[in-house]
Order: sequence, then structure tokens, then C-alpha cells
Amino acid sequence: MKIAAIVGSTRQNSYNLKLAKHIQKRYEDRFTLQILEIGHLPFYNQDIEHDPSSEVTDFIQNVADADAVLWVTPEYNGTISGALKNAIDWLSRIDQVMIGKPSWMVGASMGALGTVKAQAHLRDILFAPGLSSPVLPGNEVLVGAVHEKMDEQGNLIDEGTVAFIDGAVDNVLPWLEKQSAVHS
Ligand code: FNR
Repeated sequence: MKIAAIVGSTRQNSYNLKLAKHIQKRYEDRFTLQILEIGHLPFYNQDIEHDPSSEVTDFIQNVADADAVLWVTPEYNGTISGALKNAIDWLSRIDQVMIGKPSWMVGASMGALGTVKAQAHLRDILFAPGLSSPVLPGNEVLVGAVHEKMDEQGNLIDEGTVAFIDGAVDNVLPWLEKQSAVHS
């Protein structure tokens, strides 16, 4: 199973990027996680949609080639980041590669509620006609107060959170496999 990870924070020391790397390494025997860049994508604009740059076409091709997408979202002012929305807008247009492709989402924030609002908005966005990506109900992975749960090197050291994500993976992986088989 090949999963594309789209991380909504573009900053170098992003906790969400570290969370994606934790998932990539911990479950490497169960699925391949390819972390995709979104910081270099131009702002979506209908004027350039029909002649997109290679950054855009490569990004879309990588998503098209994946069996499923893992969204790793920060929360900015109670919703997803602008960078993530921009990537989603591109994906909703050229070839509409998300249609029917299953999604899983996780998120980390420094606030207590761990991206709960951002993830609710993201689920809603994924149901837009240009995306139509199924998301397993429940199964939320909300990592709040993430700065207290990672060490200086960015390792996830909170045992409860590690165990919780193990359980979420056990739950979501068979569902992603089934959905991607239906989709392909
Ligand atoms: C934040 N942060 C934040 N946290 C939260 O729990 N709820 C929120 O609504 C917001 N809003 C917000 C807006 C903006 C513009 C910034 C820069 C930050 C704090 C946020 O959780 C923290 O900066 C995380 O470290 C961002 O994720 P990354 O970049 O570490 O992945």
C-alpha cells in the first residue's frame, strides 16, 4: 500500500512534519508513506490552470499514483493552513485525482484540542464534488500540546499518543485498503 502524505505546514521544524515522519518510520513494514512538498506550489489561479508548472503536475501525479492520502494538518486560526487549502484547490481541478481516493487525517497543534476544528473543516472540504474523497468516520488523531510530546530531536515521546496512533492505524489501514481496491 502506497500512501501520499500531505503536510499542511511548510515550516522547517514543523511538528506536523515530524508527526508524518514518525508515522512513516513506525509503520514502514505496513505501508509506504511518501511525504510530498506543497510549499513550492504557486497560488492556484484559473488563468494558469491549463498550463501548470512542473511543480504542480509532479505533485498531482504523485497523488494520482498513491492508493490513499494522509493529510497531516496544523490548525491556523481554527482551520487548515492557506498552504494546505492551496494544494487542495490544485488537486480539485487538474484530472481531479482525489475523486474516490480514500483519505486519512491526523494533526498536531500546540493548543489543547489538537486541530479538532481544522480536521472538521478538512473533512467537509474533502466532500466537495471536485474532491469526493471518502474519510473513515471517527478515528480522529488529534495531537494537542504537541510541544510537550516531542523531544528536541522531534521524536514523539508521549507513550499514550504513540499507542493511540498504533490503534488508529490498525483501524484505518484495512479500511483504506478496501476503499482503494474499490476505487482502482
Ligand atoms: C497557530 N496555532 C494554533 N494552534 C491551535 O491549536 N489552534 C489555532 O487556531 C492556532 N492558530 C494559529 C494560527 C497561526 C497563524 C499560527 C502560526 C499558529 C499554533 C500552532 O498550533 C503551532 O504554531 C503549531 O506548531 C503549528 O504547526 P507546525 O507548523 O508545528 O506543524
